[in-house]
Amino acid sequence: MVVDDRTTPAAARSAARVQSPTTIDRLIGEEEERFVARQPRSRELHTRALASLAGGVTSSWQITRPQPVFISRGHGSKIVDVDGNEYVDFHGGYGAGLAGHAHPAIVEAATRQVRNGTHFAQPSEDAVIVAELLAQRFDLPVWRFTNSGTEATMDAVHLMRAVTDRDLIVKVEGCYHGHHDSVQVSVAPSESEEIGPAGHPLGRPASSGIPAAMTRLTLVATFNDLCSVERLLDEQPGRIAGMIIEPIMMNAGIVLPVPGYLEELRSLLHRHGALLCFDEVKTGLTVGPGGATRLLGVAPDIVCLAKSIGGGLVTGAVGATDEVMAHVASGEYEMVGTFNGNPLSMACTRAVLESVATDAGYERIAALRARLEVPVNAAIERHGLRAHLVSVGAKGCITFADAPVRNYRDFLLVDDRFNHLHWLVQHNRGVFLPPWGKTEQWMLSVQHGDGDVDMFVQNFEQFAADAGHAVRA
Ligand SMILES: Cc1ncc(COP(=O)(O)O)c(C=O)c1O
Repeated sequence: MVVDDRTTPAAARSAARVQSPTTIDRLIGEEEERFVARQPRSRELHTRALASLAGGVTSSWQITRPQPVFISRGHGSKIVDVDGNEYVDFHGGYGAGLAGHAHPAIVEAATRQVRNGTHFAQPSEDAVIVAELLAQRFDLPVWRFTNSGTEATMDAVHLMRAVTDRDLIVKVEGCYHGHHDSVQVSVAPSESEEIGPAGHPLGRPASSGIPAAMTRLTLVATFNDLCSVERLLDEQPGRIAGMIIEPIMMNAGIVLPVPGYLEELRSLLHRHGALLCFDEVKTGLTVGPGGATRLLGVAPDIVCLAKSIGGGLVTGAVGATDEVMAHVASGEYEMVGTFNGNPLSMACTRAVLESVATDAGYERIAALRARLEVPVNAAIERHGLRAHLVSVGAKGCITFADAPVRNYRDFLLVDDRFNHLHWLVQHNRGVFLPPWGKTEQWMLSVQHGDGDVDMFVQNFEQFAADAGHAVRA
């Protein structure tokens, strides 16, 4: 299953731009002007915040073009910005929003727990119930909790090292697993960096502040390419603790694993005494009741969850086999944190598992997804866009390329300007997609309805007509 090199990214990108050197850029300019004009209060707050919040925002990825959007409230499937503009929320808080906003079950659980105290740093009954429910869904028996996806993948990497007594790990080029040192390698390397051949990527630090000594402990493989992993295992016999991977890549649009890839990957790693960890922080409950693990029928040794399991509250979880978690239970690996299993988070996570991520919730999402896909695909066809829709569960994206993206090198070929224009067109007409163009996906919640999807479709029609015209111009 070797993924071949196509043409160089730079050549393909310039070919894409030759189609429409100016029209798309002109449309982007017009939409950005409209965007800024609609949001004077956001602009004012951002300008004020620049003096006291680094970059004027609370997380660096909130710095978006043409300006950050400050939000005042959310209810059901809608959010409202500080200028009073209402949007259908397709952003979903970067994948946390399965419940939508102010879901009655979350409001009830949170209110009850706030009245009963929000922090004891002692275990609660809800924590046991959540662990039992996750064990049923994810085919992994033993769990612990964290406060974020970053903490979950950090503990998972430590655990792979603790269990195997080896230092090296493997990650996939283009996968984001949070911002700790071991995984801040080759997250979104640019074409201008030295990134090596597609089948044997070079590890690149993803940010300043990541020590070269740490980067050297993380080897980089290519998604959907078993040979790239096998080569690393052969080059470093007995030294690789395990591999962390998003079973469906969700920080490069949506990239699906080819049939058999994950099963074979698990066997390959196990043959070399290494572990497999699925980072399901994004996929988790958004792709189905038991995440990608159940959807794809491959159980890893360790799974990491966060985002959607918390119903909008801060939480994360790590599930693993008895053998792996024995290292935690014995105290040999100390998995600790003042707020781990915090009662407020646990009460809300329990509410998600019992009242949000239900069969009825997933049926509703499946119906909305079908309602969206048919007309969007028809519009792509009718307007001659070089694009296709990829979706799984509550998540979806438009990939502006003819062929499916199989790995990060394919993803580099996608012309991001179309995604940015689509984001602007939707935003200016009442649908809030996640910013960051081609990297992110939309997200449906159990509180979205037909009218929400219809607004997205109507806006997409408008975008497709303009973009199609631009492509032909
Ligand atoms: C796949 C994946 N893993 C881990 C993380 C880190 O999660 P958090 O932002 O909660 O630390 C993210 C965040 O976007 C993610 O997408």
